[in-house]
Amino acid sequence: MNAEEIIRKTEAWVKNQLIDERSGHDWYHVKRVSNQASKLAKLENADYFIVTMAALLHDIADDKLIENEQKALDSIKDWLDSLEINQEEQSHIFDIIQSISFKGGNGSPLRTLEAKIVQDADRLDAMGAIGIARTFTYSGHKGQAMYDPNLEIRENMTLEEYRNGQSSAVHHFYEKLLKLKDLMNTEHAKKEAEIRHQYMETFLAQFFQEWQGK
Ligand code: ADP
Ligand code: NI
Repeated sequence: MNAEEIIRKTEAWVKNQLIDERSGHDWYHVKRVSNQASKLAKLENADYFIVTMAALLHDIADDKLIENEQKALDSIKDWLDSLEINQEEQSHIFDIIQSISFKGGNGSPLRTLEAKIVQDADRLDAMGAIGIARTFTYSGHKGQAMYDPNLEIRENMTLEEYRNGQSSAVHHFYEKLLKLKDLMNTEHAKKEAEIRHQYMETFLAQFFQEWQGK
């Protein structure tokens, strides 16, 4: 099987598993991340096959989505074995999905350009127009307000405050989204992040103007 065929089959396999997912990691998130990652792989001269495969698989074993991480990892392993992907490529793909999908990647630095690209693509999808839409969708799903003027907005809002319900969709921009542009790894992702960041700033300025009835 050639690389394109393997990618196409893997797309179908992942799509089938995520098609009913509604919490922000649906199939279309994965498809956008894999499109973005493939594009970055070309621009950054990285391994296109590894990047695209890891992007497609990056949310399958995410601890927010599944009950049993090991079971999910085993099912990915079986899938890659069935496609006869060699051990070296398999371990690179696993290294990427384990270092980026799990909450904060355990803070360990990413080892390869391919890993950095998949992380950039995943983070870009939390920015811009799509990022705004995902945030309001997620907040609605969690029963949070779109904005709560009684809650302070601080640079250093903690995850605990958010877990205690001390948050809103708009607060999430300050908690996370506006920080993402400085976390990009690759040059091409930094450029795209600037554009998406600016778009979110414009959105927030307009949001607050309308909120105050100006
Ligand atoms: P990822 O693992 O891809 O970083 P998350 O599970 O943290 O994604 O979030 C999925 C989507 O929901 C993202 O767009 C993210 O910005 C948004 N999101 C996460 N936490 C919150 C929150 N507390 N309030 C609003 N949106 C959130
Ligand atoms: Ni993701």
